Amino acid sequence: MNELMRRMLFLPEQGSAYARQVDRLHYFVISMTMVGFVGVAATVLWFVIRYRRRAEGEPTPTIEPRPIHEVLFVGGPLALFLVWFAIGYPLYVRLQTPPRDAMDVYVMGKKWMWKFAYPGGPNDMDDLHVPAGRPVRLLITSRDVIHSFYMPAFRLKQDAVPGRYAETWFQADKPGRYEIFCAEYCGLGHSAMLGTLVVMEPEKFDAWMTEARRSPAVAAAQDTPDAAANPVATLARQGRNLAVEYGCMKCHSVDGTRHIGPSWLDLYLRKEPLEGGGTVVADEGYLTESMMDPGAKVVKGFAPVMPTFQGRIPGPEVAAIVEFIKTLRTDAVHPAPTPGRAYEPVPGFDPTRSR
Ligand code: CUA
Repeated sequence: MNELMRRMLFLPEQGSAYARQVDRLHYFVISMTMVGFVGVAATVLWFVIRYRRRAEGEPTPTIEPRPIHEVLFVGGPLALFLVWFAIGYPLYVRLQTPPRDAMDVYVMGKKWMWKFAYPGGPNDMDDLHVPAGRPVRLLITSRDVIHSFYMPAFRLKQDAVPGRYAETWFQADKPGRYEIFCAEYCGLGHSAMLGTLVVMEPEKFDAWMTEARRSPAVAAAQDTPDAAANPVATLARQGRNLAVEYGCMKCHSVDGTRHIGPSWLDLYLRKEPLEGGGTVVADEGYLTESMMDPGAKVVKGFAPVMPTFQGRIPGPEVAAIVEFIKTLRTDAVHPAPTPGRAYEPVPGFDPTRSR
């Protein structure tokens, strides 16, 4: 049934359980719409015949519907729409809440290509490598204009907006190659803004990751003498240097000391009370927002004195700084499982060295 409908509707293959669920909703909506269409058309036809003008000068009858008709007319479609919502909303929630053990990949759109960065691993252009059967969380941003990251086989589409991180996730069923498109018109090269999702056997992926970490580019980004033997989070290390370069360390401590701004130690996923009431969880989205629009949500007890870094820090560097903040944990040696932890924790990271 699934296969028949999929072919009839010319849908691409289904790369994940989520894709099949989205399709089931799609089939349901489209079948109901077709049933509705046939019903309306048949009624129109019947009325045309039943209420046709039979004689010259015949008066048009006034028809008063009974209350039950009104109720059915309003209640029927309403019930149908509510069923769609009841199926669709949990799907949406599922897409918005990546599993805790998901592997992170940073995705950056720029005119006109996709760039992928693995915490603790390599950067890659156009090809996104992931293991089959494991959840992968994507943190998506853009370097210039609005793009949209689109993987039809996974029924997954997420806008890439400059200065912001949007997250989404997927879990591929089996190894294979799938298309990645940009689904937001972004200029001349929009249609050429293509990528490939390469889903690998988990063991092959691990081998690929180990190999990629040994590559000269990754090794060069690491400042340990035996970088190849001791893979560390390159993004986080890059982030530490950038945080110093951009002057973040003048106001934020990394050892828990209170300074002009909140300390970065254990900041990631901390629940912060806000000036003017409410709380916020310091996830990737909030950390990015705080760099771009620091006045938007000021932590209680701190003055809104931070300047904006909108347009001053490019997307990948924001990602690096966020990754750095994520490594700053009191329990860094044995990090608690947190949503979207880095692919591997930074071993032996010493926060005092960055000051
Ligand atoms: Cu990027 Cu269209």
